[in-house]
Amino acid sequence: MRFRARRGHTGRPAITVAKVAGPVNVSGDKEKKQTRILAADVAAIADAAAVLRAGGLVAFPTETVYGLGARADDPRAVAALYAAKGRPSFNPLIAHVHGLDAAKRLGDFNATALSLAEAFWPGPLTIVVKANQNEGTCELARAGLDTVAIRMPSHPVARELLAAVDFPVVAPSANRSGHVSPTTAGHVAEDLTGKIDLILDGGASEGGIESTIVDCSRETPRLLRSGGVAREEIEKITGPLAAAATDEVSAPGMMTSHYAPKARIRLDASDVRKGEALLAFGALPAGSEQARTIRNLSARGDLTEAASNLYAYLRALDATGAGTIAVAPIPGIGLGEAIRDRLKRAAAPR
Ligand code: TXA
Ligand code: MG
Repeated sequence: MRFRARRGHTGRPAITVAKVAGPVNVSGDKEKKQTRILAADVAAIADAAAVLRAGGLVAFPTETVYGLGARADDPRAVAALYAAKGRPSFNPLIAHVHGLDAAKRLGDFNATALSLAEAFWPGPLTIVVKANQNEGTCELARAGLDTVAIRMPSHPVARELLAAVDFPVVAPSANRSGHVSPTTAGHVAEDLTGKIDLILDGGASEGGIESTIVDCSRETPRLLRSGGVAREEIEKITGPLAAAATDEVSAPGMMTSHYAPKARIRLDASDVRKGEALLAFGALPAGSEQARTIRNLSARGDLTEAASNLYAYLRALDATGAGTIAVAPIPGIGLGEAIRDRLKRAAAPR
């Protein structure tokens, strides 16, 4: 047994949830893994890189949400990742890279893709381009598509991890499929302990909402998912973005019911009913005193702060056992577009 109590840049001691560590189990079967949680210091990041290299699964912080990483060029590792998350079908994954050169090896960057990369990387933007089928990402990671989604995260721990390996790392959000995305190592542990090898604890993800996805593989760039970079910022470079066709599974992870808590979600609530939990934004609505619990995404009405708090607060309110979470109206501009999108999915019937 190895017990590690390290202090990383979070200043908190590492927690070890389980004793370590036989050979990495990449079979994706029901066998329980020994999941370690380590504060993300230099040694832990080197450890994580070795686990990835061997085909294992590592959760790590990004500036948006925690990702669950596997090497993108290894179909066995990618299959194990799908199994650990319980993704119902094989959804294409985002390949994370350290630099633009690595990105360009994975796919064809046209002028639009390049100017977006220059403007927003590293950062919460994912760019879809025509895939170079022979390089970097296995077919399973792309779910057989002829395009590939690529992202260069800005979180220092993600960047150090990606610098330490010589392959791209696919990383969906590190939650059970369909569940609320994780913004802390604790959230990841709740969902995936026993199913993955290692969790790097780098503190809370600040952005709080997934990357924006723009498809540049066709003539007109399209917005596939709103996210951490507001549409308005992207359109300054691309001009008006086309919408993804609704009948098309263009970003298959964007299923209607997604990001789902157990509680029912009541959107745009201008009042609070007895016993409901309240997810507020700005001033509290009428009837707030009847709420069983209140979390305010941003008392001062700041959308960046609201995005950062969204998933943690949804989890916290859900944990109270409330039957319904009333959600105050949130404007659909800037990051509000992505916040409203995720809440709509959380509210969808399932
Ligand atoms: O912020 C993020 O993007 C986080 C962090 C961990 O980086 N990752 C994330 O991954 O949100 P995931 O797997 O939860 O969402 C990836 C989305 C899915 O909706 C998937 O369908 C879409 O990207 N996607 C992946 N490859 C695609 C492709 N070639 N064309 C269109 N959509 C694609
Ligand atoms: Mg996800």
